[in-house]
Amino acid sequence: MQFPKTPNYSGYFAPSGVEAEVPCLPLIEGEIPADLDGSFYRVAPDPQFPPIASDDIWFNGDGMVTRFRFHNGNVSLQQRWVRTDKFRLEREAGHALFGAYRNPLTDDDSVKGKIRGTANTNVVVHAGKLYALKEDSPPVLMDPETLETLDSSYDFNGRMTSETFTAHPKIDPRTGEMLAFGYAAKGLCTRDMVFYVINPQGEISKEVWFQIPYYCMMHDFGFTEDYVVFHVVPIIGSWERLEAGLPHFGFDRGKPVHLGILPRDGEAGDMRWFSAPTCFASHVMNAHNEGTTVHFDVPMAPGNMFPFFPDTEGQPFEPREAAARMTRWTVDMRANDDDIAMTRLADLVGEFPRIDDRFAGAKNRYGWQLVQDMTRPVDLPNARSASGMMMNTLGLVDLETGKTDTYWIGPVSSLQEPAFVPRPGSSREGDGYIVVIENRLAEMTSRLLLFDALKLSDGPVATLGLPFRMRPGLHGNWVEAAALAPAAAL
Ligand SMILES: [Fe+2]
Repeated sequence: MQFPKTPNYSGYFAPSGVEAEVPCLPLIEGEIPADLDGSFYRVAPDPQFPPIASDDIWFNGDGMVTRFRFHNGNVSLQQRWVRTDKFRLEREAGHALFGAYRNPLTDDDSVKGKIRGTANTNVVVHAGKLYALKEDSPPVLMDPETLETLDSSYDFNGRMTSETFTAHPKIDPRTGEMLAFGYAAKGLCTRDMVFYVINPQGEISKEVWFQIPYYCMMHDFGFTEDYVVFHVVPIIGSWERLEAGLPHFGFDRGKPVHLGILPRDGEAGDMRWFSAPTCFASHVMNAHNEGTTVHFDVPMAPGNMFPFFPDTEGQPFEPREAAARMTRWTVDMRANDDDIAMTRLADLVGEFPRIDDRFAGAKNRYGWQLVQDMTRPVDLPNARSASGMMMNTLGLVDLETGKTDTYWIGPVSSLQEPAFVPRPGSSREGDGYIVVIENRLAEMTSRLLLFDALKLSDGPVATLGLPFRMRPGLHGNWVEAAALAPAAAL
């Protein structure tokens, strides 16, 4: 039994399997702001065992959660796998039991009907609870201090009837609510969706059930003061594909995109759908509304951005069509037509957009993201990342001036998703830091970098060494120490 020698399991993508407690990370350069008091939680797919098949996609690894704790100018590290049902069953068996990504037909008979979630996509704190999330399954609750798994299938005290819960819930800083949804909510490949409001105490206080125009990967969404926004993009799936042994999702360029707008105080009958010709968008930077006009900002590409979810008609993957640029989708709930107006906001090519989360749902000035700067050299002759798709730059877009600020990480490194850290005591938008993991691809090591959020091009203000390689991760969030205080009441 060995991990495959494929790009998904080799080089910087080799499984890590490291669970650790490191009390003090070495400072290589700069200074750690002594007043920062909080934790940067992030999660990476990190397979416990080799796959049943000869290969598997990165998205299907077991969730490994890392916590970087900033306190008194020191940064400590904890890292633990999430004890999902899948993880425990496979640990007991000593080998993989669950098969291909989102295809239960490939599972061992002994785990038929079990929850397949890997909790590998996002880690979010709300109402003192730490949620480890994968969009095909219920949330997993972890102890935010110890990273111990507390509940591998949390259902909000029986209130959540959806089979799934998004990995991209949003916290409304104005109301303290967490907004979330489930798709394939009544079973795999169903068009059923549910929107949930979770009140500041962590209980479900509202749910709205509806159907999307066609089944697809509903990975993220947006919200504004008055609306929630769901983008339907043709990363489609079906039982026929699963029975044929195809990847769960494929890109169907023949289908239009749709934008569903639901008033936050409304019901399913108040929802309105808008449409546009096909394109690709996954993560949402932010959204806001001016009266009945709703703006929704996303990195948008003309064609498929996911080569591992191939074209349904067999068209080859086209990197130029996969180049995403920040674009504003605008609709008016009172319009006579169903069109979506699209306006380019910046020319940077990239993904993983972030904001100062204190401005979520409101009109934000600043957006940060990873950038693929293809004009920069890559000095990695043997690395897969030398494909030109490498996220080699950190970018800031000022939506007020249209100006951008960037920092190139050099020819032998790439970056993981950044997160914004507010400067203690300041409420001004963008006043703070960006925390980001650097993948040092040539050395097979990692570093943790802290930037002044509005001065990226000055380079990191602090560079910390990590004692082992951080496998490429998906998402993470900064959590103030004070936000964990209610955890004691759990
Ligand atoms: Fe995501």
